[in-house]
Amino acid sequence: MRLIIDTDTAGDDCFSVLLALAHPGVKLEALTICNGNVAFERQVENALYTLEAAGQGGNIPVYAGIPKPLMRPPLDAAYVFGLDGMSDANFPQAKQRPEAKHAVDAIIDLVMANPGEITLLAQAPLTNIGLAVAKEPRIAQALKALWIMGGTDNGLGNVTPAAEFNFYVDPEAARMVFQAGFNISLVTWTLTVASSEMSEADLAAVEAMETPLSRFFTTVNAAAVAFSRARYGHGGTLHPDSLACACLLDDSLITASEACVVEIETGGGLTRAYSSVSSSLLPDQEEADPALGVAGAPNARVIKAVDSAKFRRVLTDALR
Ligand code: RIB
Ligand code: CA
Repeated sequence: MRLIIDTDTAGDDCFSVLLALAHPGVKLEALTICNGNVAFERQVENALYTLEAAGQGGNIPVYAGIPKPLMRPPLDAAYVFGLDGMSDANFPQAKQRPEAKHAVDAIIDLVMANPGEITLLAQAPLTNIGLAVAKEPRIAQALKALWIMGGTDNGLGNVTPAAEFNFYVDPEAARMVFQAGFNISLVTWTLTVASSEMSEADLAAVEAMETPLSRFFTTVNAAAVAFSRARYGHGGTLHPDSLACACLLDDSLITASEACVVEIETGGGLTRAYSSVSSSLLPDQEEADPALGVAGAPNARVIKAVDSAKFRRVLTDALR
């Protein structure tokens, strides 16, 4: 599998990259950096350092993308991941430097030069992907698959009751991407909460492995542990980006999915970035309200359930 990861590299974003690097069937073609979790330049450094920590420094190009959302003020999640996004670990600067080419152009060039070959994992706000498809609409068909971590499946968000971080930061970009005609699989925050938790015991087992990557994981995850303790009273952590990556690497993790119509609210106040996910449990919308007309065709495969124990094993094994 030839893979690009679009990432706001901090915390779990790093672990998702490690998962991809650990998989023998994956050729990681590029990391592209999008605005999101922490200061943009920090995220570029975090991506470079993660590659170095995995012994891949200098082997995978890193491209800087769009440093802020299309229409909204920037928003970060440093309160979860630390100011540097790495639990304020003060890692040294990696030797590898970012490429001169813009991430949006790198995505377009890689995808258009290799039609039907490239899978893209979008684990950040969708600014880079939205602008890439605006600049070159043919990437929607030329990309083999677009995996997105974002949104909710009609459940509680993690920024507002209605919205998840990646979509909330740049709802206009998210809307553009879901309307562009990509072959989308969606891993939501709702699924993340249900199935991606590394418990305190899981995290202790990782720490006890005492490998370079387990130490990296434990150090980078420390702020999320502290956040979880303060907010929820336990030290388990959620791993949305790793879950999305694990699903794309191994379909057998997925135990239920549904083809859905996914739409992103851009006009709402309370519902800014709410992701409306159609459901077979609902009546046909033209019957429920004729004014709505017939629903459009599904535009995404929404992952509904995964083998959570297997996910935790896969993540742990990647750190051995
Ligand atoms: O809502 C989860 C997403 O936003 C993840 O991609 C994580 O990086 C976060 O901040
Ligand atoms: Ca992310």
